[in-house]
Amino acid sequence: MLGTDLVAVLRAAGHEVVPLGRARLDVRDPVAVRQAVRELRPGVVVNCAAWTAVDDAETHEEEARAVNGDAVAVLAEACGEAGARLVQPSTDYVFAGTGRLPYAEDAPTAPVNAYGRTKLAGERAVVETLPDAGYVVRTAWLYGAAGPNFVSTMIRLAAERETVDVVDDQHGQPTWTVDLARRIVAMIEADAPPGIYHGTSSGSVSWHGLAREVFTLLGADPGRVRPVPSAAFPRPARRPAFSVLGHDGWARAGLAPLRHWRDALRAAWPELVA
Ligand SMILES: NC(=O)c1ccc[n+]([C@@H]2O[C@H](COP(=O)([O-])OP(=O)(O)OC[C@H]3O[C@@H](n4cnc5c(N)ncnc54)[C@H](OP(=O)(O)O)[C@@H]3O)[C@@H](O)[C@H]2O)c1
Repeated sequence: MLGTDLVAVLRAAGHEVVPLGRARLDVRDPVAVRQAVRELRPGVVVNCAAWTAVDDAETHEEEARAVNGDAVAVLAEACGEAGARLVQPSTDYVFAGTGRLPYAEDAPTAPVNAYGRTKLAGERAVVETLPDAGYVVRTAWLYGAAGPNFVSTMIRLAAERETVDVVDDQHGQPTWTVDLARRIVAMIEADAPPGIYHGTSSGSVSWHGLAREVFTLLGADPGRVRPVPSAAFPRPARRPAFSVLGHDGWARAGLAPLRHWRDALRAAWPELVA
């Protein structure tokens, strides 16, 4: 989902891009990863490959870690050898989500599920291996035209069901993949200082509040979205309740925080319902 939009945004900005989907490069193959970086000699690598099946990671943590942790470590080494910068998307799930204030970039991490642990392994590999050329960009609640996501599910359910039950005790920052892609490009172009950044929209909302906004944009009655607690939808992986990230880090790069999630959703809307 992010990779598709990133390629389009990079090309629109005039950058030369070599997109490597899974068919061209399995990131779990260290020989192939090293060879790709050596041969392509990129200025920047953005690693959009990831194990993103959060619930499946609970029972397949080693497999998830191979993609989200081990492969990132190899890629970071290869980038170091080639003199390339590396941008590694990560997740709000590195935090426990028990806070009440937005998590700062340097707040202590404490993942509550396997996916979060594997993504944290990837973060650490980038920060330790590439202190002068590594970027970790934590994002969350992504939606976009190129993949199944919460917003597309709500658009479908609005047409299929009279009422929809949505959890109202998890808060986060819905983020449009195009906004994140543009931010990654801006960060690269600004030659931002290496380190950890929070690539999520401003503001925050519950899943229930987001679903209500989707119904409103559809011209449907938002009252058809009924609030329920997370306990109503037991899932294998625990989710942090408070996934709100702080954005002070962007000032280091001379960039403003991303726009408010509601403005982003409105901007994305034509693409989402096309
Ligand atoms: N989606 C969210 O809400 C969210 C939230 C927080 C953080 N993030 C992070 O943001 C980044 C982008 O997420 P996304 O939603 O765009 O992910 P996505 O749509 O699930 O895309 C992940 C891509 O990685 C590929 N991939 C998986 N294993 C691979 C391997 N071994 N070698 C090569 N490619 C492989 C997948 O290919 P296949 O389709 O063939 O499996 C897929 O194209 C990820 O780092 C993710 O952890 C996402």
